[in-house]
Amino acid sequence: MEFVPATEQDLPEIKQMANQSLKSQHSLQFFLNHLKDFFYVAKEKGKILGFIIVRGKRLVLIVVDKSARRMGLGSSLVEFALQHFPELELKVRASNKGAIEFYKRTGWELVGEAKVGYRNGEKGFVFRKRATKKI
Ligand SMILES: CC(C)(COP(=O)(O)OP(=O)(O)OC[C@H]1O[C@@H](n2cnc3c(N)ncnc32)[C@H](O)[C@@H]1OP(=O)(O)O)[C@@H](O)C(=O)NCCC(=O)NCCS
Repeated sequence: MEFVPATEQDLPEIKQMANQSLKSQHSLQFFLNHLKDFFYVAKEKGKILGFIIVRGKRLVLIVVDKSARRMGLGSSLVEFALQHFPELELKVRASNKGAIEFYKRTGWELVGEAKVGYRNGEKGFVFRKRATKKI
């Protein structure tokens, strides 16, 4: 498994994986706009098994392919990002129970309810995680 910067060629595969996994549907343009950010993919034998996008200190998206979940990849992607940022924050849908469990069990701190929710009126929670090592 290698973590490498996302390229434009990766985006159709990334978009498909994200849209299969998330309630919010994202366009190719959304991912194109993030190519200038911290945007890494986890690849094994050329296949993308997950990705992470960070802008500023905000973890914009993290997705692991359904076939590769519960094997530590999500945690590894977060730890990898925390080697480059002293702290990360994110917003997650209140209905995304799996992701909320993931954040709670991997050392994220629940900061509170997000001031701004989601388009469908759903509320969001904000979580924060600090790098344990000084960078
Ligand atoms: C959230 C997500 C990235 C986690 O990735 P992952 O590679 O499966 O996570 P890990 O294997 O590192 O999980 C670490 C621990 O978190 C917890 N955890 C992870 N997913 C969980 C779930 N669905 N339910 C309960 N606990 C979970 C477990 O304690 C797990 O350890 P264990 O498998 O030894 O019990 C993945 O489920 C995903 O892509 N979900 C869809 C996209 C999404 O909702 N992204 C977040 C919103 S932006």
